[in-house]
Amino acid sequence: MSDTAKLTLGDIQQELPVIEGTECERGIDIRQLRARTGLIAYDPGYGNTGSCESAITYIDGEKGILRYRGIPIEQFAENPNFIEVAWLLIFGDLPSEEEYHSFAAELKVHANLDEGMKHQFEGFPRSAPPMAILSAMINALSCFHPELHELEDAESVRSTTARLLSKIRTIAAYAYRHSRGLPYMYPDPKLRYVPNFLHMMFSRPYDEFLCDETVRDAVNLVLILHADHEQNCSTSTVRMVGSSHANLFASCAAGVCALWGPLHGGANVEVLRMLERIHQGKITPEEYVRLAKDKESSARLMGFGHRVYKNFDPRAKILGQMAERLLSYTGKNDPLLDIARRLEEIALEDPYFVERKLYPNVDFYSGLILRAIGIPTNMFTVMFSMGRLPGWIAHWWEQRQNGDNKIMRPRQIYTGRNQNDYVPLAKRP
Ligand code: ACO
Repeated sequence: MSDTAKLTLGDIQQELPVIEGTECERGIDIRQLRARTGLIAYDPGYGNTGSCESAITYIDGEKGILRYRGIPIEQFAENPNFIEVAWLLIFGDLPSEEEYHSFAAELKVHANLDEGMKHQFEGFPRSAPPMAILSAMINALSCFHPELHELEDAESVRSTTARLLSKIRTIAAYAYRHSRGLPYMYPDPKLRYVPNFLHMMFSRPYDEFLCDETVRDAVNLVLILHADHEQNCSTSTVRMVGSSHANLFASCAAGVCALWGPLHGGANVEVLRMLERIHQGKITPEEYVRLAKDKESSARLMGFGHRVYKNFDPRAKILGQMAERLLSYTGKNDPLLDIARRLEEIALEDPYFVERKLYPNVDFYSGLILRAIGIPTNMFTVMFSMGRLPGWIAHWWEQRQNGDNKIMRPRQIYTGRNQNDYVPLAKRP
């Protein structure tokens, strides 16, 4: 097998090295292309561009495989523990018992926000989108920790990571409480990561929210399955911002902004809207699927299809099972789950979806789980951000550790006017 690619364009003959990853994915290394030939690679949307080498997450979209540091995500589903997965992603290995316990203790220490930050919540209107509050408050954290702007070693990254992972759930819960006019609940150091978050969300003064095991597992699972997905839009944003040596708080706040967009983090909200529309009797599942196939209509079967997966999104399978488990445990019969199952059944037998390799993606069931737990729809993307935070940190840190950490600066093909002259205002037509 050749380890160089040959480019021929008119008189230009150029050999380009081919690099290969540990799962035999191959790429043409074009770093010297412009210097040697004057040409650049044109790839809007970066669908064919490898922006880095990374050892964090592996996806095979054809086979429906997703692994964190080599471990298939299915293996995290039995006893889901988000903190363990966060450590794995960021530091490369599963934590030892000692590492796990001392990290968990550190998370407890950092759960509170500076009281000054609490007042900042008051300045936001009640109707403020929680994602706006989240990104603003993560950025605000950097004001309270100027000593953590320069991170050079694993120790300082660990300590900043503990603050971020711990405080993001406090910020998320406070954003929700603020929107409802509810008093903020301080974190309870007796509680573990997820129960503590649910306590801050749902406890009321003198009325403590009791988190049972199934709910705890469901939230852990949702967070784990969102924890990383290699070079997606928000992670690439974090890397882009981090490449200028912006601090970790600022880089992660930028990740939140990227995730806020409906094309990225907002799809599970759209799935619920679709299911509710069907539930309200406005359209039947069969009619909706027909509409989604109709090229004259803009409707799509939400929660189906993926840019990378041309097979079942492995996360959807796990979340589908969790949705069943959660609802049968709570004894709540959510008619939306039945509608989702019916849509899935119809689509998986329909040649339109089969031929285009359109399968359920992570968003198809995640909203149903969050809804069953009582998380309001406008908090879904915030939950996604909490889950994705370890991935952002892992990529930011990996990039820092990499020797060839250049500032990211894509090129373009200019399509504007050629040189023309400035016309003074009085002489313009
Ligand atoms: N419903 C109906 N038709 C679909 C759907 C869908 N959900 N998804 C793709 N198609 C069709 C397209 O119309 C196109 O048909 P054509 O070949 O006849 O023109 C074909 O399948 C290929 O579609 P593309 O848009 O090229 O597929 P791409 O891989 O670029 O898009 C995307 C992936 C954006 C996720 C798309 O499948 C979609 O819009 N799905 C619904 C929204 C959704 O669930 N988004 C969440 C994605 S997961 C995440 O971001 C975390």
